[in-house]
Amino acid sequence: MCGIVGAVAQRDITPILLEGLQRLEYRGYDSCGVAVHSNGELRRARSTERVAELAGQVGKENISGFTGIAHTRWATHGAPATHNAHPHFSGQGKASARIALVHNGIIENHDELRAELQAVGYVFESQTDTEVIAHLVDHLYNSDLFEAVQQATRRLVGAYAIAVFCRDEPHRVVGARHGSPLVVGRGNNENFLASDALALAGTTDQIVYLEDGDVVDLQLSRIWIVDQAGLEVEREVHTVQVHTGAAELGPYRHYMQKEIFEQPRAVSDTLQDIESITPELFGDGAYKVFKEIDNVLILACGTSYYAGLTAKYWLESIAKIPTNVEIASEYRYRDSVPNPRSLVVTISQSGETADTLAALKHARRLGMTHTLTICNVATSAMVRECALNYITRAGVEIGVASTKAFTTQLTALCLLTLALAQTKGQLSDEREAEMLKSLRHLPVAISAVLALEPQIMAWADRFASKEHALFLGRGMHYPIALEGALKLKEISYIHAEAYPAGELKHGPLALVTEAMPVVTIAPRDELLEKLKSNMQEVHARGGELYVFADADTRIVSSDGIHVIRMPENYGKLSPILHTIPLQLLAYHTACARGTDVDKPRNLAKSVTVE
Ligand code: M6R
Repeated sequence: MCGIVGAVAQRDITPILLEGLQRLEYRGYDSCGVAVHSNGELRRARSTERVAELAGQVGKENISGFTGIAHTRWATHGAPATHNAHPHFSGQGKASARIALVHNGIIENHDELRAELQAVGYVFESQTDTEVIAHLVDHLYNSDLFEAVQQATRRLVGAYAIAVFCRDEPHRVVGARHGSPLVVGRGNNENFLASDALALAGTTDQIVYLEDGDVVDLQLSRIWIVDQAGLEVEREVHTVQVHTGAAELGPYRHYMQKEIFEQPRAVSDTLQDIESITPELFGDGAYKVFKEIDNVLILACGTSYYAGLTAKYWLESIAKIPTNVEIASEYRYRDSVPNPRSLVVTISQSGETADTLAALKHARRLGMTHTLTICNVATSAMVRECALNYITRAGVEIGVASTKAFTTQLTALCLLTLALAQTKGQLSDEREAEMLKSLRHLPVAISAVLALEPQIMAWADRFASKEHALFLGRGMHYPIALEGALKLKEISYIHAEAYPAGELKHGPLALVTEAMPVVTIAPRDELLEKLKSNMQEVHARGGELYVFADADTRIVSSDGIHVIRMPENYGKLSPILHTIPLQLLAYHTACARGTDVDKPRNLAKSVTVE
């Protein structure tokens, strides 16, 4: 999603700005731009192509400067077009543009502010809510950019992270945040701003995380921060080692494929050689919290939500703890009955998902103070906001479609289930040893499933010509069917839906024809015979079944029933193994259809707007 980089230095900062944008590229964007202060005027380049194209434009037009800002935009207000791309300028109509501004987030009162600014003569060039902020800052500007930005932000309703500079103050960049992330990078006689520390890797590792309401004044040798009350505040400087090694594709065609194949390593790293289960794996004080809580409330979005749905089965069957799983964007807007004895668990790959962060804050406002996050980014807002955490060690995930993040989330959620079960007296020593053994063997088991790739590729060729698909699962494999359908639709653009297999006859069976492939997850579990009956319902109506069946299910290929055998039955952890072939099926189907697998249309990696 949108990315920001800003710099004030005594050297040409365009390479830093462009490299920063390149580091944020994987999050998804549809236009990009850069603006610098150059010989007393503002210069900019904007593009609806990739950052590499923007860099070419910058080179061709000899754009360079010591102070500047840059942006990748994921369109919300106004189409992805050059005139809507950031940076936006204000002051046109005067001698030359005076203010340059980039913005992440959504300004909710932009219509009202636009009317007000038009009434005093501002002419708008774009349909964006961002241009409103640029004109507002210009309107309020009276020789002090820091002051103007503070005044402007008081008028904004909604979420924002902004970076601004001014023609008349060449060695100054001002930033502000509310609801969208923004960090300061401290250098030696130079300072930086970015929406994520990753953008500044290689430039500085001295990072300050701004808090909601903060406005920051960056000059060459000064960082000055005020909070939302306008009072000067000190914010801690963190030394952040950002892992950037994920950029190499190696032998793979796409990052998604690479990330699917990294799962044995990712799961193994997430398990961190754990010798025994203890609540302290989730942070100091976890034992006391786990003792106190009597239920779990999981908040998440997308794939992370499906990880939560899977965990509900584990938490209720192994730890015997009542669990609710809520879509974060819905939870925060509905009346619910808060229970102060809930453990609020957020799940997020990025740790910056706006809906999940807002849902967490909502839960806290309702009096639920026991918070824990399962997150892949140790420096993210989510980890900073939650009292307890477990960091998955998937490594940077570049593909927009979440793969290794999901299986490592499930691994961490299994550990959480065991720790809660132990605290509640539900975990015998034998069960603990048996579960740990299965967890430790997971990387090997996943590798065996990855070896099914050639068989799955053959299926993918047939899926490529389809426009619809159904995914079926039962029990704890129903969320895995949901995840399989999400993977297929987001990267291949095939319409896919998932159902608990028993629900088929209550409506979706009407869709079944020979043109509708029905992907079925068939583990050898207590629901197997029920599932076989559901499969017959499909078969009898001419539906084509594509079944991932555990070896000992006795489901065999026949006319209209295609079977790929899973190497082994994996008991309670079976959802993790059954995820892998669905990822591969989605991946190879998308490749066969020729879509942009790593950057599917309209989607962003880190969804930092509501
Ligand atoms: O970073 P998060 O885990 O909070 O992201 C949540 C969803 O946006 C994310 O899982 C999304 O659904 C993925 N594109 C799925 O592949």
